[in-house]
Amino acid sequence: LGHSFSYFEELESTNSHVKNISAEEVTHGMVCLADDQIKGRGQYERNWESESGENLTFSLVFRPQTTDRFHVLTLACALAIVDYIDELLPNSNVCIKWPNDVMIDQKKVAGLLTETMFSGNTLDRLIIGIGLNVNQKAFSSEVSGKATSIAIEKGQTVERENLLSELLSRIEYNYNLWQRRRQDLLKSINRNIIGYGQWIELIVNGQLLEDTFKMLGINKAGQLVVLGEDGELKSFSYEQIRLVT
Ligand code: BTN
Repeated sequence: LGHSFSYFEELESTNSHVKNISAEEVTHGMVCLADDQIKGRGQYERNWESESGENLTFSLVFRPQTTDRFHVLTLACALAIVDYIDELLPNSNVCIKWPNDVMIDQKKVAGLLTETMFSGNTLDRLIIGIGLNVNQKAFSSEVSGKATSIAIEKGQTVERENLLSELLSRIEYNYNLWQRRRQDLLKSINRNIIGYGQWIELIVNGQLLEDTFKMLGINKAGQLVVLGEDGELKSFSYEQIRLVT
C-alpha cells in the first residue's frame, strides 16, 4: 500500500481524482493525499469539510480479485484507525460507528467513503476515502459538538506524516486479514463497534421502527445482524438502515 503515492496541495476530492485515473494506469495500493479538498465528499451526498493542511484526507485504491463483501473492507480500514488512536490515546473511548465512522466519546474523528467502479461485471477498483481529523482545533457550527480531532483529544498537535505511514501499514495488515482470516477480522470489528450486544433503535429505509433490536454484530457480507424482540434474526445492508444515536 502506498508504493504509488501522489500528493496534491489542492484537489476537488481525492476519491474523484482516483476515480478518474484510467484503467491502464490505476494500480492496486495507490494512495492519493490532498492537503485541501474543494469538494470533499461524504456519505449521503454530504460535503466533507476539513481545514486545509491540518488533517489527513486521502484515498486508497484496492483491486481485489473478488466482487463480494466490500463493506467489511471499509470496516477493516476503520478498525485500523481505531487501533492506532487507541495506542495514541490509551484512555480514550474510541470505536467504530456502523457503517463507516470512527468516534471518540461519541464525537466523530474520522469518516470513510467507499466507492466502487466496475467494468462490465468485474470490479475495476474499490476506492476507500478517509477523512481523519488530526490537528483541527475548531469546527463549523454545523458539526461543532459532534466532531473532534486527535489533537483536541490529546491536547497537543500530532505529526501527520508518521500518522499516515502508521495507518497505511495497519490498513495493509487488515487488508490481508480481510483476504485470509475474515472471521478473526470480524471478531475485532465487532469488539470495537458501538452498540455491540446492546439493544438499539433502527431507522430502516428512512423509517424509525418501534421495536428495539439487539445488535449481534457484522456478518461476512458486512451486514448488520440484529435480534428482534420477537426472537427473529434480521440482517441489514448499510444502504438499508441507520442507527439512532
Ligand atoms: C463521511 O463521514 O461522510 C465520509 C467522509 C469521507 C471523506 C474523505 S476525505 C478523502 C476522500 N475524498 C473525498 O472526497 N471524501 C473522502
